Amino acid sequence: MLAGKRVLLIIGGGIAAYKSLELIRLLQKAGASLVPVLTRAGAQFVTPLSVSALAQHKVYQDLFDLGDEAEMGHIQLSRAADLVVVAPATADLMAKMAGGRAEDLASTLLLATDKRVLVAPAMNVRMWTHPATQRNVATLRGDGVLFVGPNDGEMACGEFGPGRMAEPAEIVAAIAAALGAGLLMGRHVLVTSGPTHEPIDPVRYIANRSSGAQGTALAAALRDLGARVTFVTGPASVPPPAGVDVVRVETAQQMLDAVQAALPADAAVMAAAVADWRVANAGAQKMKKDGSGKAPVLEFAENPDILASVSKGPMRPALVVGFAAETENVVAHATAKRARKGCDWIVANDVSPATGIMGGSENAVTVISDSGAEGWQRMSKDAVARRLAERIAKALQ
Ligand code: CTP
Repeated sequence: MLAGKRVLLIIGGGIAAYKSLELIRLLQKAGASLVPVLTRAGAQFVTPLSVSALAQHKVYQDLFDLGDEAEMGHIQLSRAADLVVVAPATADLMAKMAGGRAEDLASTLLLATDKRVLVAPAMNVRMWTHPATQRNVATLRGDGVLFVGPNDGEMACGEFGPGRMAEPAEIVAAIAAALGAGLLMGRHVLVTSGPTHEPIDPVRYIANRSSGAQGTALAAALRDLGARVTFVTGPASVPPPAGVDVVRVETAQQMLDAVQAALPADAAVMAAAVADWRVANAGAQKMKKDGSGKAPVLEFAENPDILASVSKGPMRPALVVGFAAETENVVAHATAKRARKGCDWIVANDVSPATGIMGGSENAVTVISDSGAEGWQRMSKDAVARRLAERIAKALQ
């Protein structure tokens, strides 16, 4: 995805610096060539040796390192890259950037560069929300600096809130986006995921065993290819991926409304396990035993078919992908489902309890399209997601 792209990576100080090692690994995998710079504070958290070994490049640390100046001056160093990335970016480093200071190698490179700069801030919640930091962020944004994160979450310091550095995969996606490199750059993809909950009364509901893992992995893989992803999710047991637009719903009807509101899209991938039925006589109050020993009788009404309504609707995306959860005759049922629902592809899987697929981390799918049924070997849900995302990207080209 980033083959031939040159990234100057500045690693600032902070506990999140350990994640920059994973970032380097992912950038290598994506084909980027890296020149690492480690600040004095950064070197307190990761060693120059681990950085240079992973980056397969000498690590620069000191402005007054004459050897470096003879090899490559700091002006040249700041311009040889296609993009300058600062991860983690500390409050101090951002303050230096906003103030135009050049007092060490990192801040000098950031002042001297003529390339775009992407920063991944990481700091304590209070430091991030402090008016001084927020002023600096506004200044930097005004200067055209790009941001990825920070995310909400539990922090190494024990506090909770915004300040966590974006995940390495998210930073790679932001780098690809900044370089216009992702195959799905500029595309909007809608993904549904998770189960739906259909209320019986205000405290009880009918649900299914979907964890949302496959839909979540797909949304992340599409994001990694540069797509803008709208992620409409039922109450899943895995958290939604960072860096996508999350719309949380409970019922099938709410999911349909959210999906319609998210259109138009270039592609829609409906991985949600939508309940086919809702309780027509759901109670407005908690149902009570009346002492007679008679069980209540639930009446059901059919839910709207979201996939069919998108496939056959006036705002149909160029590519509509459905899933099929089957427990027998997988290919035959899924092939019939594809025709009935009018989608382009169906990703079918056998969700019989013995397969361990529903709620598990692996999937064995058969992709059914115009060109027939193609069985994929069993692999992780992440691997299925990446392969599917690449296929979606190719289909949209
Ligand atoms: N789906 C949907 N809306 C529904 C039911 C299902 O959008 N009300 C979508 C799912 O997101 C999935 C596909 O349709 O992409 C197939 O879902 P599945 O549960 O396998 O099929 P069903 O429609 O329930 O068909 P059947 O009852 O025959 O299994």
